[in-house]
Amino acid sequence: MFFFSPILGSLAFAAVAVAAPTPEHPLSNRQAGTPYTGVLTPEQCKVLVPRKTKGDADKGLGISIENADSKPRSYFVYSNGCDTMPYIEVTGVPAGKTVFVSLPAKFQGRIQRGTHDVHVARAKGPDTSLGTWLELGYDADNKSYGDVSLIRGCDGAVSLRTTDGSGISTGFSTPCMQGAPAGAIGTKLSGGKSVKATERSKTQSDPNPNDGLPVVLPVPRDWLLQKLTNDQGKAETKAYIDDFHGNPVICDTKGRWHATFHQGNP
Ligand SMILES: *[C@@H]1O[C@H](CO)[C@@H](O)[C@H](O)[C@H]1NC(C)=O
Repeated sequence: MFFFSPILGSLAFAAVAVAAPTPEHPLSNRQAGTPYTGVLTPEQCKVLVPRKTKGDADKGLGISIENADSKPRSYFVYSNGCDTMPYIEVTGVPAGKTVFVSLPAKFQGRIQRGTHDVHVARAKGPDTSLGTWLELGYDADNKSYGDVSLIRGCDGAVSLRTTDGSGISTGFSTPCMQGAPAGAIGTKLSGGKSVKATERSKTQSDPNPNDGLPVVLPVPRDWLLQKLTNDQGKAETKAYIDDFHGNPVICDTKGRWHATFHQGNP
């Protein structure tokens, strides 16, 4: 059951926040529908200045980000409730290096590859959403739920693993753009290529315009389903390909993650 958020692209993630039952927290005890506090208000968003870091002290809640690409990369952490400015800018991680990024308790949001010009200087326009989203959310006990979503596109692979000893991982390392048909590929504001978003919001001219469901865009969606299909012919389930394919959410009980950003377009 999905809990639809007005922010397209957060559909799958909202499902993480309210509908990821665990043995310790069955759904009935997780107060689905309670307003969550990791979301920025419009007022907070308007005046948000990103915290800039080259890497924080490796302690407490947060995520190790490994740059497995061949060039230095920057990463942008967005809090839910604010799509117009990142919450944290992680700058210039050298190829092959890993940095730790501290996240506040109750954090809910996403991490994307990108460039300062596009995400912070916003020289090219407002929509920075196209690309692979690494989605993270913390509950009141500092447990964290994470997944990789391709609903807003795929500009490269991301894999995510727990560090709490459970040995669980999600995401994928397959280069998602390689071999894609032209119709599945879009261009980010940076000029970099990405597989297009697999969904869009309904408009009043669509059938059932007010049912809260997204419209699936079949060209990029079918490409990703095909590309991420495993040897057994089963669709890859370790990413949200759209809101109807994939069950990729995992939990780190201590709220400390390791993410690998594979080769991709910033
Ligand atoms: C969650 O983490 C924060 C920040 O480290 C800490 O202040 C808080 O006490 C923790 N809460 C629980 C329930 O462990």
